[in-house]
Amino acid sequence: MVIICPHCQKEHSIDENRLPANVVKVRCKYCKEQFDITRPKATPASRNMPAAEEKKNEPRRIAVTLSKGGVGKTTTAVNLAAGLALAGFKVLLVDTDTQGQSSFMLGLKPKAGLTEFVNNELSLDEIIIPARDRLWLLAGGKSLAGLKRVIDRKDFGGEMTLREKLTAFDSKFDYVIVDTSPGWDPLIVNVLFYVKEVLTPVSLEVMTLQGLVEFLKSMSSIQKYNKDVALKYILPTFHDQRVKKSNGILSKLEELYGNHVCTPIRYNVRLSEAPAYGQTIYEFAPGSPGAQDYRELIRKVTNNPKLFT
Ligand SMILES: Nc1ncnc2c1ncn2[C@@H]1O[C@H](COP(=O)(O)OP(=O)(O)OP(=O)(O)O)[C@@H](O)[C@H]1O
Ligand SMILES: [Mg+2]
Repeated sequence: MVIICPHCQKEHSIDENRLPANVVKVRCKYCKEQFDITRPKATPASRNMPAAEEKKNEPRRIAVTLSKGGVGKTTTAVNLAAGLALAGFKVLLVDTDTQGQSSFMLGLKPKAGLTEFVNNELSLDEIIIPARDRLWLLAGGKSLAGLKRVIDRKDFGGEMTLREKLTAFDSKFDYVIVDTSPGWDPLIVNVLFYVKEVLTPVSLEVMTLQGLVEFLKSMSSIQKYNKDVALKYILPTFHDQRVKKSNGILSKLEELYGNHVCTPIRYNVRLSEAPAYGQTIYEFAPGSPGAQDYRELIRKVTNNPKLFT
């Protein structure tokens, strides 16, 4: 984990596994200030899925999607889902990408996932993996290529495959967050027939406005058939205030999409380091700008400005 000295703001990398359990204070090696440390809780995630009767309402179903690759979709899906779980909500993270990066980012190696779920190959308890307290994962991965073929071969209603399967039990959760692959394929169409809200991360590093416009065109072709789905959040990512272009794209986004635009996620190297440790940003570097920005996103999504304060 990375901790930041509250006095001089310098960062320290610490392997929490080698830190004796009774250590609660550390001394900054730069300014020598002593300060308290808070460790990520190592409580094992509860294995049991929430019971159906615990919740009766529909969950909020949010897809994190944009056809362009590398804009921060998976980073956002994982840290949005984990942050909502930390805030006390029951969350299911569904990975619909053949790259299976969501599992990797959470430090999990599931043997089964969405493909087995849709094909009824295993029981739900074997497929829905407990990832953290109140957070469950329905994993993606290479086998999804086969699932896409199954969807393609259906003569009728292929686009409703995910919706039919997931709505059968998703009322156990408060939120279902769906990570998608780059590009446009039958699985993404399926996702857009399942979710009601769309969150699109837009990288401020490269010119992705054109990508956003193209994606919104494709989405409007789905909206003709699924009136329930709507673009809810545009999340600027890789924001670097020192770079003029970054601020320029941000102003343009705000001008075009107003209230839909969320507070940007800054470029933060901790966000790119955390996956190698199988940790969310709140576990790996809780005081980092990346963790602060994702907490701000959770406040916007839950419409609760007091969360985590
Ligand atoms: N705000 C950020 N600052 C620095 N690095 C980041 C940030 N957000 C994401 N990254 C890193 O950028 C890379 C791409 O991010 P990510 O995998 O989330 O994008 P993606 O849109 O899911 O990509 P793909 O389209 O391939 O699925 C990853 O290495 C990730 O760790
Ligand atoms: Mg991804």
